[in-house]
Amino acid sequence: MSPTERRAHREPPVGKWVRVAGLADCPVGQLKAVDADGTAVVLANVEGTVCALLDRCSHEEFPLSDGELDGGHVVCAYHGARFDACTGARKSLPAVLPVRSFPVDVRDGDVYVDVE
Ligand code: FES
Repeated sequence: MSPTERRAHREPPVGKWVRVAGLADCPVGQLKAVDADGTAVVLANVEGTVCALLDRCSHEEFPLSDGELDGGHVVCAYHGARFDACTGARKSLPAVLPVRSFPVDVRDGDVYVDVE
């Protein structure tokens, strides 16, 4: 069964999916720090699409959730590095490495992250 078919049948996706928040707690254009079974994750609602990154900047490991969402970029509050909010790709110095991203599934008004 393809991922699209699985979603259509409302079966839970394969992986270690953890409910981390209600969709209503993730407003468009905002970041939200959550705990996903012991993993610090920052959710970013990019124009209605919820994305998830490890909540640790690849520059000096401060929480990305202290920063802000600027369009599709997470901007670190500490030294200004930018990352793609959905892929974690580095977009500017001083960071030189990407940040890990996690799959997200929104079901029945809840946000799930696969931290496997
Ligand atoms: S800790 Fe994020 S840019 Fe330095």
